[in-house]
This record gives sequence, structure tokens and C-alpha cells, in this order.
Amino acid sequence: MSVRPGGRRRNLITERQCPPRPVRVKPMSPFLNFIGGRWGPARSGRTFANHNPANGECLGNYPASGPEDVNDAVEAATRAYSGWRLTPAPKRAEILFRAGELIRARKEDLARAMTREMGKILIETRGDVQEGIDMAYLAAGEGRRMYGVTTPSEMPNKWAMSVRCPVGVVGVITPWNFPFAIPSWKLMPALVAGNTAVFKPAGDTPEMAWHFVKIFEEAGLPPGVLNLVFGSGSQVGSPMVEHPGIHVVSFTGSTDVGLGIAGRGGALGKRISLEMGGKNAIIVMEDADLELATDAIVWSAFGTTGQRCTACSRVLVHERVHEDLAERVAARAQRLRLGDGLEPSTEVGPLVNARQVETVAGYVTIGRSEGALVAGGEPAREGPLAKGHFFRPTVFSGVRADARVAVEEIFGPVLAMVKVANLSEAVAINNASRYGLSSSIFTADVHRAFGAMRDLDTGIVYVNHGTTGAETHLPFGGTRGTGNGHREAGHTMLDPFTEWKSIYVDFSGRLQRAQIDNA
Ligand code: UN1
Repeated sequence: MSVRPGGRRRNLITERQCPPRPVRVKPMSPFLNFIGGRWGPARSGRTFANHNPANGECLGNYPASGPEDVNDAVEAATRAYSGWRLTPAPKRAEILFRAGELIRARKEDLARAMTREMGKILIETRGDVQEGIDMAYLAAGEGRRMYGVTTPSEMPNKWAMSVRCPVGVVGVITPWNFPFAIPSWKLMPALVAGNTAVFKPAGDTPEMAWHFVKIFEEAGLPPGVLNLVFGSGSQVGSPMVEHPGIHVVSFTGSTDVGLGIAGRGGALGKRISLEMGGKNAIIVMEDADLELATDAIVWSAFGTTGQRCTACSRVLVHERVHEDLAERVAARAQRLRLGDGLEPSTEVGPLVNARQVETVAGYVTIGRSEGALVAGGEPAREGPLAKGHFFRPTVFSGVRADARVAVEEIFGPVLAMVKVANLSEAVAINNASRYGLSSSIFTADVHRAFGAMRDLDTGIVYVNHGTTGAETHLPFGGTRGTGNGHREAGHTMLDPFTEWKSIYVDFSGRLQRAQIDNA
């Protein structure tokens, strides 16, 4: 990241910071912050570069903003709040419907841009954009519901009701693994409820955030209602959490960062909605359809190159089928084709950056002493793969339940297979995890399936399906260390972004004292 002394205007020009492509005519950079309805650079004029993880290509430069830009964004959001709050919710919703239509029309371009930016394969990036479309329509529908509650008063001639109200300015901090879907889960409900927002996307996926905001601008969102500030966690994220003008912070990302936000924001009395790590298990009983289970394990463990909060990273498998299943999964993992996610034949794309490769390689070193390495175990560097952040899908079998690779979130293509004697042992191992996002059981026995549905202590439970693929109209989130009790999307979507106001209207014309005059 370089400091550019030329003041605000200089950075309107894209200065490619990454060699080696000579550019004859420097194009205008469209990638700017969006504050108060205007696109502009960081006040400092600094920028950072965005790269394609499959081949290192430079995709553009973005403002490396600081606390002063956050201040501007919060001011703009605060100014816009009074008008937006009073815009009828069905009218706010119409803008979301329009945004949904624009996303639908651009689905393929957005998916391609996402694959270029963060690496996952095209069918998956199409799914990510589809979540944005689904969420736009779902949240827009709330504009004509947003139900409150009426209830009888205990006094005569008195009306009682409670209604949802927006909270004010919300801060939204999002990760790179679902760079369209996750901003949709947060911003769409926040906006339809009448809040205004400051949005800080992950540094690895600024372009998807730029498209997201551009679409809302085109859909007719008034200036200042949605503000976009690019930059790092320390320079933009932390100032957002600390800013007195931001009332709610919604964060998805790593557990360490999330707990830091909860600590700082909580001390300031803010509402903090967190979605953090996962160590999601698929339980495979001896009566399961092993072919189906293998398909699901491979998809859940190695889809998105293992970089999903919902990814399966441990299989708790009945001892009678452990060897058989480990062989099947290892054979499939070895055959997966790595490459650029834009190639139709690619099954597994790169990791998002070099740091992730290091983390994964570190865990593989640890795993070698914790289980038998039956697939993968190293970065992939042959041919064109050498230009990207590729790591071979990796499987360890016969791992102890308390081994580090079976306990810690790795966020990469590494799977630990653990032998269990029965369902209750599997459930106990699942529930002992620090995390509780998703879990799954494969069995043909309805009694076991229902027992698992009741006893698996995670926010999402699947039967005869892997751990990924949550649908937007059901609540999303986890128990224990995965979150702090909030759920996103689904019928719970408005909860993090609204306050309940109880209203009493006394039309008796006299002083009526509740709890006293009618006792
Ligand atoms: C995430 O990994 O943070 O359920 C989100 C799924 C996707 C969303 C994952 N619909 O796997």
C-alpha cells in the first residue's frame, strides 16, 4: 500500500500498483468510496490493489480509507436517516425490488467478476449472486409486512400495541467468502427497516461491494442511505465500531475479530450482531447411503475451497464404515480438478490469498502427526497453478476427536475423519466444539434422524445432506462461539436492525393508573 501525496483528485486515475502490464492510457478508476451519494477517493488519497487469486492479475485500485472517511460516511448516513426513516416501508421496499431485478439481469457478469476476485468456481459464484436476488425479494416483501403486535390493554378505553422501529445508522462489516450474499443478508433488511448504513467490505473483495452499492444507486436509493468505505479493519472497521453515530454493528468474519468488536462495541452499549467461525461435522452412521454421503462430504468440504463458515471440516463416521468412507472420500478428493474458476472444467478454485495458503499448510503439518494423510497435503504449483494460491484437497483419516485439525477452524480444503462407536458419541463430539453453526447426519433410520435433529446443538441441522447450502428464507446463524445469539435472513432478518416500541393510547379522558386502579 503506498502513500500518494497528490491530494484528493489524483486518485481518480487508476494507477496500477501491480506490475507488469504496461498501460498506455490510464483509465479513470471507477472504484471509489460512496459517501452521501457521491463517488470519491479516500481523503488521504491512499489506495490498495485488488488481485485475482488464481493468477495474480491486478483488478484495480481502491481507496485505502481512514477514520476521517468513516466520519464523513457516518455524517452522511445520519443526515439521510430522518428522510429515509419516514419514507413508507412499502416505498423503501420498491427500491429493493428494483435492486433485485438489476442483480438478476446482471447475474452472469457479477458471478464472473466474483470468480475473478475471490476464486470460487462459476457455479458457486452464480449461487452467491442468486442469494442476493433471493434476499432482495424476501427483504422487499417485508416492506409490506413488518408486522407489529396489538394486544388488549388491562384498562378500559385504552389501546396497546408494539411496533418495529429502525435503530439509526448501522455499520456492516463483511467477509470475502460470500461477497455478495452476506452484504445482502445484512444491508437489505437494515435498509427496508428504515436504517441508513455504512458498509465496509473485506479488502480481498472490494469489487463485489462496489457492484452491490452501484446497483442500489441505480435502483434509486436516496443519497446517504447507503455509504461505502473501502479499507482495512484497523483503519475503517475499528473506527466504525467506536463511532458514537453508529448504533448497531453487524459483522461476519473471524472469531478473533468478532470477539474484539463485541468487546469494544459492547462496552459502548452498542448492539453487535456476530456470525463467526464453524467446525461443522457430518455424521455418517453405518446404515447410511455411502455414495450419497461421499458426494455430500466432497461438496461440503471442498466447495468454495473449504472457505465457507458452513464448510464440513470433520466427518464423524461409524467405525464399521470408517475405512470404506475414507477411501471413497480420498479417491474423490484426489481427482478434483484445480484451476481458474472461470474454466468450466475446474472443480476447485484457489484460496483467496497467500496468507490462507500459509495457514492451511501450517495445519497440514500439524495434521500429519494427528492422523493418516490419505489425500492432498501440499500446495499445487504445476503449470498455470504456480501463479495462484492453490492447495490440494486434503483428507486425514483416523483422527482423534480432540486433535487440532478436528477441533480448530482451518477455513481451507482440509477434512478430518474421526471414528465413532455410536450416535451418542458423535453427538457429544459435535456438541463439544467451540462452534455451533451447521451439522449433518446421514442415516436411513428415522429414529436416529429425529434424535439427531433434537440433540445436535447447532444453528442449522441437515439430514442426508451436507453442511452447506442454507436457504435465505430460514434463519442463519449458530450457537456457542459461532455467534452471539443473533440470526440473519429468514423471518428473523429484521431483529438485529430494529427496536420494539410499545405504544399506549388512553382514550378514557381520565387518569387511569395501570396496576393500581384496576387491581
Ligand atoms: C458462509 O459461509 O459464511 O449455507 C455463508 C451456505 C451458504 C452461505 C454460507 N448459503 O453454505
